[in-house]
Amino acid sequence: MNISKQNKSRIAINLAQFSRFSFIGICSNLINFLVYITCLDFFHFAIRPAVLIGYFAGMITSFHYGRTWVLGNRHSFTITKLIKAFSVYLFGAWLMQKGVIVLINTAGLSSVISWLLVAIPTALSNFIFFKYWVFNDRNKTPIRWGGISKLEFLQTWASNLISYINPVVIHNLEKYYAIKKAFYLSLIEDIEGDYIEFGVFEGSSFTHAIRCYRDLYKYIPKGLEKKTRFFGFDSFAGFGELDSNDIHPFYVDEQFTTSYDHVSRRISRVSKGIDFKLVEGFLEETLQVLPREYGIKNARIIFIDTDTMSSAAHALTFCQSLIGIGTILILDDYYSYKGSKSKGVAGAFSTFIENTGYSFREIFSYGMGGKVLICNSIDESA
Ligand SMILES: C[S@@+](CC[C@H](N)C(=O)[O-])C[C@H]1O[C@@H](n2cnc3c(N)ncnc32)[C@H](O)[C@@H]1O
Repeated sequence: MNISKQNKSRIAINLAQFSRFSFIGICSNLINFLVYITCLDFFHFAIRPAVLIGYFAGMITSFHYGRTWVLGNRHSFTITKLIKAFSVYLFGAWLMQKGVIVLINTAGLSSVISWLLVAIPTALSNFIFFKYWVFNDRNKTPIRWGGISKLEFLQTWASNLISYINPVVIHNLEKYYAIKKAFYLSLIEDIEGDYIEFGVFEGSSFTHAIRCYRDLYKYIPKGLEKKTRFFGFDSFAGFGELDSNDIHPFYVDEQFTTSYDHVSRRISRVSKGIDFKLVEGFLEETLQVLPREYGIKNARIIFIDTDTMSSAAHALTFCQSLIGIGTILILDDYYSYKGSKSKGVAGAFSTFIENTGYSFREIFSYGMGGKVLICNSIDESA
């Protein structure tokens, strides 16, 4: 059977309208149902008024979105349309209450099942009357799906939700994803070495890294896993004395003071046989020795989350001999200090790149300015 282009487009438009109608139908019926149940159970109304009140609450929702969205274009509000819509709803209301009463009395169904069974044909009849009678403006060209932009209530909900979420929560969630991705990428590239974190604070990202490692290795046959140990460096007392170049309104000790014992206990609960070591002290002191003093030979993932340039510079210098091709470097707060390229973590990283033969490619960014890079070449002569 040959369907003409015009018919195909008509079918597509009808389908789009019906999908939108179904969506609004579900929402308005949900409102209808909730109001019905509330009237019955909370206000102890009789069945008939409960049905009618619920029905009219759903009607208001349905009329508004029927006029502005369901049929593809915004129909002007006229008294004639309102009267027509009102008549459709009255007919639907009569159908609803009659149907519910008949089903309860004759078929002995429960009030909820009766309501659900009658709501479906009522909704269908409403759609047909809506499309071909209430909003039958023939001179309008329907829009198929662009109408989503008119769903103001969804936009308002999404906007309210997103504006409500604490930015720190968003940053930390994306940090978790970044760590998970780093473990996955280094697993499929078969990168050997340890996980080294500078700036452990309460151990949230550190314990998460252990979980990511353990969960990924469930998929690797026993004996083929590349053993990774976990090293964390932190003063557990904040930043200490800051260089004048490192002073920043948010990076202050009060935000980041914690206790080594508390963090160590927290990590022990998660590690379950996985090797980890926490080194307590300011990086300026604890990184004076070579990595082998801590038993570290190479790095699989390096995560620098100490915020300031001087601490990040110490961490990078310490890691120089540990970085190989494929080592992943996670740099938090890369765009701090008003985006300066010569301050903060970004300043330390650019100095490190200038003075060594390492080259990194960015893999992705995360949260409020974190960056994930991978070492892709090493110039031994540098
Ligand atoms: C942003 S917090 C780390 C958050 C942690 N990575 C997480 O996601 O759960 C920064 C940490 O760096 C530590 N830190 C900053 N400068 C330091 C330094 N010079 N030496 C040692 N630790 C330092 C602070 O004590 C603080 O715990």
